[in-house]
Amino acid sequence: MRLASLLPAVLLSLRAALLAASSRTFRSTDPITGRPVECDSCAPGTYLRSRCTSAQKSDCAPCPPGSFTELWNYIGKCLRCGVCGQNQVVKTPCSADTDCQCECRPGYFFKESYDMCVQHRVCPAGQGVLSTGTADEDVVCHTCPNGTFSDSVSAHQNCTKHKSCRAAGLQLLLRGSAWHNNLCTNCEELKSKDGADYLKEILPAFFVHQKLSMKRLRQIVNKLPSEDGKTQGRSSRLDLSDLHEAINTWMVSATAKQIRQLPQLLRKTGASSASERLLNKLQRIDSSLTQLCVVDAAFISE
Ligand SMILES: *[C@@H]1O[C@H](CO)[C@@H](O)[C@H](O)[C@H]1NC(C)=O
Ligand SMILES: *[C@@H]1O[C@H](CO)[C@@H](O)[C@H](O)[C@H]1NC(C)=O
Repeated sequence: MRLASLLPAVLLSLRAALLAASSRTFRSTDPITGRPVECDSCAPGTYLRSRCTSAQKSDCAPCPPGSFTELWNYIGKCLRCGVCGQNQVVKTPCSADTDCQCECRPGYFFKESYDMCVQHRVCPAGQGVLSTGTADEDVVCHTCPNGTFSDSVSAHQNCTKHKSCRAAGLQLLLRGSAWHNNLCTNCEELKSKDGADYLKEILPAFFVHQKLSMKRLRQIVNKLPSEDGKTQGRSSRLDLSDLHEAINTWMVSATAKQIRQLPQLLRKTGASSASERLLNKLQRIDSSLTQLCVVDAAFISE
């Protein structure tokens, strides 16, 4: 990061003067004789306590703590150490001959065009972190390649491999996508499980991946059916993560029948493409179940 951006304009012009004066000597006037004399400049880390005379050399003294000189100079006072800006931390502390160096704090990077530290981007569900961010570089995301997925919004997490159903002695029920894992089944489970119960496993990621607007999520939360037929309370004060949380909490205790109402509920709020996608997942689960496991067809289509 360019240090210049951290220094007030006054210091900048002083720096320019110092650059011009960075030679090892400077011309002065002897206070006693009034004749010109050539004095030694002071080394970086020191300042000129008193000028030379024809009888005495320049008196240079070390910079007191909290101040510095980076160049040969003949200034009467060291420069005040800089202060790191917003969302910056000290990378190298100030010493007598160098100003402090700042860098963006963890989770932030220096964006040249804004001339400030901004937060690393997060990769949406369906994308993983290709390269992690640094103080100078933003996070780079990539779409999860075939056979891998990411079900979270994260600045750290990469795509992970779909689990292998076969390795776990199970059967593949629904092939994973970029945003959800493979769904596996053991046909034994079917006695107690409905296709909608399998859908539950990918619902949290589904809602994150669909990027529904706050307004729509609020409508959905308000319409979520509950056991006694009533809907959830007002949701106008909830923020995005609260709304996702409300859906997830509802989901945990929702019956298969209630889960099966979700596509229709989505359609009612105007989220028709999300509705179709969800219905499609559910139908694929249901049809897999009938093909994989020899069970009573009536049981599945309740
Ligand atoms: C994420 O995974 C890809 C391969 O899928 C790999 O090239 C990349 O280096 C990984 N990123 C990190 C931060 O590990
Ligand atoms: C993804 O990989 C699977 C096998 O792992 C293969 O059957 C499928 O065709 C691949 N899909 C694409 C789009 O490459």
